[in-house]
Amino acid sequence: MSIYILGIESSCDDTSAAVIKDRKILANFIANQTVHKDFGGVVPELASRAHQQNIIPVIDKALRTANINKNQLSAVAFTNGPGLLGSLLVGASFAKAFSLALDIPLIEVNHMHAHILALFIEDEQHKKHPTFPFLCLTVSGGHTQIMLVRDYFDMEVIGQTIDDAAGETFDKAAKIMGLPYPGGPLIDKFAREGNPKAFSFPHPNIQNLDFSFSGLKTSILYFLRDELAKDPDFIEKNKVDLCASIQHTIVDILMRKVKKAVKETGIKQVAIAGGVSANSGLRNAMLSMEEAAGWQVYIPKFEYCTDNAAMIAITGYLKYQQEQFAGQEVTPYTRYNSKK
Ligand code: KG4
Ligand code: ZN
Repeated sequence: MSIYILGIESSCDDTSAAVIKDRKILANFIANQTVHKDFGGVVPELASRAHQQNIIPVIDKALRTANINKNQLSAVAFTNGPGLLGSLLVGASFAKAFSLALDIPLIEVNHMHAHILALFIEDEQHKKHPTFPFLCLTVSGGHTQIMLVRDYFDMEVIGQTIDDAAGETFDKAAKIMGLPYPGGPLIDKFAREGNPKAFSFPHPNIQNLDFSFSGLKTSILYFLRDELAKDPDFIEKNKVDLCASIQHTIVDILMRKVKKAVKETGIKQVAIAGGVSANSGLRNAMLSMEEAAGWQVYIPKFEYCTDNAAMIAITGYLKYQQEQFAGQEVTPYTRYNSKK
């Protein structure tokens, strides 16, 4: 008998609902919040209020598109952390009430693990899935981690950022350049037409598998301040080259550590996940390692890179199979916790 799971994601500024039938996604809807545009970043209080408005219409749309009745659902899975507390509470409260009302199991999902488990969604174009163990560079707006993935729910962080996340660095660089939030996708777009070697920025000097991006951010800030003093149109005149050079530097910092992790662990199955895995420069750099170094590279389908509920639904499906259910007492958490 097929298993149907409703997945709910509300950890940051996207309200999303998805329905999965076994490992196949039947529906995946995302309501992006536009209220934050004028503020240059996500305003937590506004995010929670928008989730409240969006959650029921998004879930209703997902169930209708999947063409199933809510009584057919086997369980409801929701993001319990990490994320913004007020935002998480909206998804958690809905999921708890839904599980009680329908008398179906409740499944709590770790958002960062779900980004990785999106690699196991089955799809006509996406039949290649990693086998264990594999390494995963998980890069999002709030996190940058190299994970050693031993099993679906046995993951170890072997490297992480000591300051800013990679996505945050893209967004902050974009903000310094006067681009709107979130700047990552825009830098990616402009970078395609620019010269990645036009400007060079420093790399951090960290010995282990950890990352640091705060020095890069400061150097971009000071570099642009000095150039703008000489020519107020410097950014406009050099936009594509600046974007290409910044992207090249971030991708290079990430790739150096992934290569080091492969060398140290001997594991050549390497994946990327999280919002920044949508970046074309990073995707190409990873894919080039298949030929250059014999890696087997796994990249999630584009729509499952940035925040979405399909990844929550597949994690729900995998937990359902292991009967990893949650009680009504579970409460959202804001910081990453490898045990949940
Ligand atoms: O995973 P995600 O959707 O949300 C979090 O869990 O944080 O990641 C969002 C981050 C943002 O910083 C956004 O700018 C970045 O992913 N991002 C990108 C691209 N698409 C999204 N960064 C670079 N290039 C992209 N194409
Ligand atoms: Zn995310």
